[in-house]
Amino acid sequence: MSTQQQVEVTLTHLYKDARFDHLKMLKSFAQSVFKSIQPSSFKDVYLSISKEQGEGLKRLIKENGIRNIIEFGTSFGISTLFLAQGVLETGGNIITTELIASKAHKAIENFKRAGVNHLIEVRIGDALETLKNHHEPIDLLLLDGWKDLYLPIFQMLEPNFHESTFVYVDNADMAETKVFLRAISQSNKYHLQPKFGGKVVLISIRK
Ligand SMILES: C[S@@+](CC[C@H](N)C(=O)[O-])C[C@H]1O[C@@H](n2cnc3c(N)ncnc32)[C@H](O)[C@@H]1O
Repeated sequence: MSTQQQVEVTLTHLYKDARFDHLKMLKSFAQSVFKSIQPSSFKDVYLSISKEQGEGLKRLIKENGIRNIIEFGTSFGISTLFLAQGVLETGGNIITTELIASKAHKAIENFKRAGVNHLIEVRIGDALETLKNHHEPIDLLLLDGWKDLYLPIFQMLEPNFHESTFVYVDNADMAETKVFLRAISQSNKYHLQPKFGGKVVLISIRK
């Protein structure tokens, strides 16, 4: 079996497991009546991108020869596996970061099972800490963690952007993400392109 096929098999298994996400989400929201919602409230929930989004990310990586990828929000690694399928073709690699250690360890197991562990560095902890000393060019930044951190993470990593950098913003239709996108669109530097009916915004640098 090729590595691409191994990733496909792992993704099929993970999406099957993720089909109970909505029930787990309901449980987390019910519990939030008694305590405030934290990332740990979703420690068992995938909250993953859709297969269509994953396929789109793969295409974006291949068509633009993207090699250096940073991902904020690993969860159990579904989106990272699509990124890995892309960089298998371009010879790139991925740094991904996850706050909840148990999720990060499960993601690492999934990357090993899919045969792409060597392409992925998983940094466990708060993205504002784990990515703060990153001083390498970024071809693609995937923002898919907690939305209030999109702006500080974007600003922290902005010095590493170059003229062909893409920033893929998931959950662009959420209120906190809209605040982030408004702030970004105030600068003439960036071009914002909605995708998937506005669920995603792809940011690129104006030429
Ligand atoms: C929407 S899920 C990511 C889904 C994943 N990208 C996928 O498509 O499979 C968001 C993840 O971000 C993580 N997260 C939240 N705040 C974080 C932080 N400050 N640093 C790193 N990860 C964080 C959460 O624990 C959660 O697992």
